[in-house]
Amino acid sequence: MTITPVHFFSHGSTMMLGEQSESADYWKKCGDEAIAHGVKGVIMMGAHWDCVGENKVEVSTNPNPGKSPVAYVHPSKYLDYTLVPDLESSKTCIDLLAKDGFDVTGNDKLDWIHDTYLILIRMFPDKCPPTTIISLNARFDPHFHMRVGAALRPLRMQGYLLIGTGGAVHNLYRNIWQPMLKYSDNFAQETPPEDWAMEFRQAVEDAISGNSGPELRRAITRLMKHPRYRDAHATDDHFMAAMFVAGAAGSEDDNGSYGRLHAETWELTNMCNSQFTIGAYA
Ligand SMILES: [Fe+2]
Repeated sequence: MTITPVHFFSHGSTMMLGEQSESADYWKKCGDEAIAHGVKGVIMMGAHWDCVGENKVEVSTNPNPGKSPVAYVHPSKYLDYTLVPDLESSKTCIDLLAKDGFDVTGNDKLDWIHDTYLILIRMFPDKCPPTTIISLNARFDPHFHMRVGAALRPLRMQGYLLIGTGGAVHNLYRNIWQPMLKYSDNFAQETPPEDWAMEFRQAVEDAISGNSGPELRRAITRLMKHPRYRDAHATDDHFMAAMFVAGAAGSEDDNGSYGRLHAETWELTNMCNSQFTIGAYA
């Protein structure tokens, strides 16, 4: 293997862990591929862990992370799954980030949250691969998170799989929650998604599938200026993973390596869980 692909996954609601979906099938396929290609470890940026401070980023170094509990999922779906923190690779990530000028430290207290372990369980149901989690920075600067991905891009040549887990359209304030709250039906679609959700979902797909290399970085960071961005993301946390992916998959050497939408699951009427992969095992 000379280089790994990069995934931008939309993890959706907690129920995506317990319910079958096209997205879940795709996550499993990506996990199977990673195992088949002998991936050494997983490096993830999620949406639910951020740190405070200018230029600050943290890396998971908790040797025994617990799991933050999830609602609307039977505990049998996650309680017994053993997480495998990769302390050696955490150190590698810290060194790479420090070399690129980030104020980076390990965090040995972090319990892992469903944004990361939902994806790990779905991709690798039999056994968690060695995994490192990279925090967000609470200023939610798109270019900062893109640079974090760029700093870790060399790990793609060392057999690591880089994943951003956030959301393409993810505005909890504009979801229609009643079918899930009343009937545990997260996929109910009593009305079509609203136009802002459709519009932004398309903009994300166009940006990722129509650009490569540095143009991909420009296109994805620019999405935060899209007229429907704030409708699609009331908060910025779930879109930072896309910036990380743009950094990890958008160098000059990635020119010609276009992303593709491989699966998509609408939840709660207006939340679009699009699953993208940029590049392929080569
Ligand atoms: Fe989330």
